[in-house]
Amino acid sequence: MTMAGNEIRVDAPQRDILIKPISPVLGAEVAGVDLSKPVSKALVDRFKQALADYKVLVYRDQELTQQQLIAFSRMWGPLGEHIMPGAVRDGVAEVNVMSNKDAAGKPNGRHTDSSAKRWHTDRSYMPVPAMTSLLYGVEVPREGGDTLFVNASAAYDALSPEMKAKIEGLTAIHWVEWSRRTGGVAVATDYELKKAPPVKHKLVRIHPVTKRPAIYAGCHAWKIDGWSEEESRPLLDELVRHATQDRFVYRHKWRPHDLVQWDNRCTMHAATDFDTHKELRVLYRTIVECNPADAASM
Ligand code: SIN
Repeated sequence: MTMAGNEIRVDAPQRDILIKPISPVLGAEVAGVDLSKPVSKALVDRFKQALADYKVLVYRDQELTQQQLIAFSRMWGPLGEHIMPGAVRDGVAEVNVMSNKDAAGKPNGRHTDSSAKRWHTDRSYMPVPAMTSLLYGVEVPREGGDTLFVNASAAYDALSPEMKAKIEGLTAIHWVEWSRRTGGVAVATDYELKKAPPVKHKLVRIHPVTKRPAIYAGCHAWKIDGWSEEESRPLLDELVRHATQDRFVYRHKWRPHDLVQWDNRCTMHAATDFDTHKELRVLYRTIVECNPADAASM
């Protein structure tokens, strides 16, 4: 590995790979890798470090089938089950197809996932939440449909000493039923409620690789453990408001065939609107679970 300025060059079996920051807030672009081909564990280890450092990785110009996306995702850990109704299509259980394409191949007028427009971190409603998510842009709108990412470590660092003291040691209860109820989307199904009963996670979690604290909240966070809903709301809303200020946000404008990967342990994200009647947005998504020991110790 060699370093030139802020860029990291990784000597990889396939070609010379360049990992280059994409914004001052977070994110790096990975160039020179073809993820449709098998990649070595050593290379994925480099990507793991880069993901911890940059929080979002953008692999440009990938040509991936669902199976190739699954193969690369599995290099990161066990894949999580998509429990949302309608998330899985074509009989491939590991891939959540997010699409507004109708049977005739035209835009159907609906967002690819309205619930994803609220700030969240993936599967925080599960006892073992998502470590990383991978989202592959098969077809993306010419305008809009961007994905926003928050650097939740930088947001934590910028909290006042008083707020840091106030939230120290607090635990939030995350519940899929809460985010569904308040998100104006379909209520959680019995299957989801069984798979995802209310779970507790620390409000500030320490990243297992970087050891940096990060705010861990978002739309699935229902209330603070031991507090009422009414007592909890102002604090949880204030933390999200603070973290989602422009200075902590990177806006990813999709190019076709981008594979975007993020670290759910230290980011929040949100989808944005696009012209759902005119533009197509088709994405494949996989979720890699946290290592249970890491999840328990964060
Ligand atoms: C997600 O929340 O996982 C999807 C984000 C997006 O559709 O941009």
